[in-house]
Amino acid sequence: MNVVITGGAGFLGQRLARKLLQRGTLAGPDGVQQAIEKITLLDVVAATDFDDARIEVITGDIADEALLKQTITQETSSVFHLAAVVSGQAEKDFELGMRVNLDAARLVLEACRTAGNVPRVLFTSSVAVYGGELPATVLDTTALNPQSSYGIQKAIGEMLLADYSRKGFVDGRVARLPTISVRPGRPNQAASSFASGIIREPLNGQAAVCPVAGKTRLWLLSPRQAIDSLVAVQDLPAGALGKSRIVNLPGISVSVDDMVAALKKVGGEQAAEHITWQRDPAIERIVGSWPGAWDITRATALGLRADDSFEAIVRAYVEDDLPGPDRRDAPLQNV
Ligand SMILES: NC(=O)c1ccc[n+]([C@@H]2O[C@H](COP(=O)([O-])OP(=O)(O)OC[C@H]3O[C@@H](n4cnc5c(N)ncnc54)[C@H](O)[C@@H]3O)[C@@H](O)[C@H]2O)c1
Repeated sequence: MNVVITGGAGFLGQRLARKLLQRGTLAGPDGVQQAIEKITLLDVVAATDFDDARIEVITGDIADEALLKQTITQETSSVFHLAAVVSGQAEKDFELGMRVNLDAARLVLEACRTAGNVPRVLFTSSVAVYGGELPATVLDTTALNPQSSYGIQKAIGEMLLADYSRKGFVDGRVARLPTISVRPGRPNQAASSFASGIIREPLNGQAAVCPVAGKTRLWLLSPRQAIDSLVAVQDLPAGALGKSRIVNLPGISVSVDDMVAALKKVGGEQAAEHITWQRDPAIERIVGSWPGAWDITRATALGLRADDSFEAIVRAYVEDDLPGPDRRDAPLQNV
């Protein structure tokens, strides 16, 4: 089977590609596991870290209709549509956000429809589709009320995917991702970038700024568990999804103070001294509009699971992503 990952050079896209290469199979249209013969990574940035004959790299703009039609063909059985500009960037650059997060989502679905073989399509959505007056715990039935352009773009993408599925053009599924933490690498323009930065930077002996209050609650998922969940959702039989194509992936609800406590447990008391608390009203407004906890009854019944604790998430970062001591500025305790 041929698989396309848009945003394949991105953080989750590359990890997903590695996972699929290692796994070697995905469910085909009949639900039976099929060998993956090709994984096409489409991204505006070239994915360079792969040395596997099954990987094809296509560099270009996801909003280029002709390129999409060349990339998603009759041979494509499975599409993971991950390409996006992140929340802070979509808020700052309205036109870019609309083009990449909304226009391109429809073009991806159109390319699938015109290819004609009803591929499975997984669309990565976000907690940002919720907002406004929210219950303490968001239910699957809670109304969408996004408070950012990014959230609006994701919500419309979800609806489009549901309609293309209802029409039988694709076998679509939406995974609403919690905020991913701890994300390795450099800070990005996501409003939630600090949710990784306040752990990652101190563990690497570097300064971090926390732009929100300690009591702010976040809904978090580790990169490891996120990738497992994306693959699991794509493998679900359409019948298991019932009348909704959308799955709120399980996360854990953690306050920023809880996160710092876990940092101290893993990295030692001094690790938290790298954090400066400097509130940023723009980030507080966006992050404060996201729900801090979701009901995960449906996702759990579908066999999906969350991380065990935030401390387990920090330890997973240390195992998977923390550079070796020679590349860190400060020694770590308790790792
Ligand atoms: N990481 C999170 O916390 C999180 C949370 C919720 C949802 N998501 C969603 O998951 C998906 C992947 O997120 P990520 O963290 O890997 O983000 P990322 O920014 O690392 O990856 C997105 C990729 O999309 C690519 N891209 C952007 N504009 C493009 C264009 N015009 N044409 C082609 N490619 C383009 C980027 O180059 C990048 O490689 C996104 O859809 C994101 O909205 C992520």
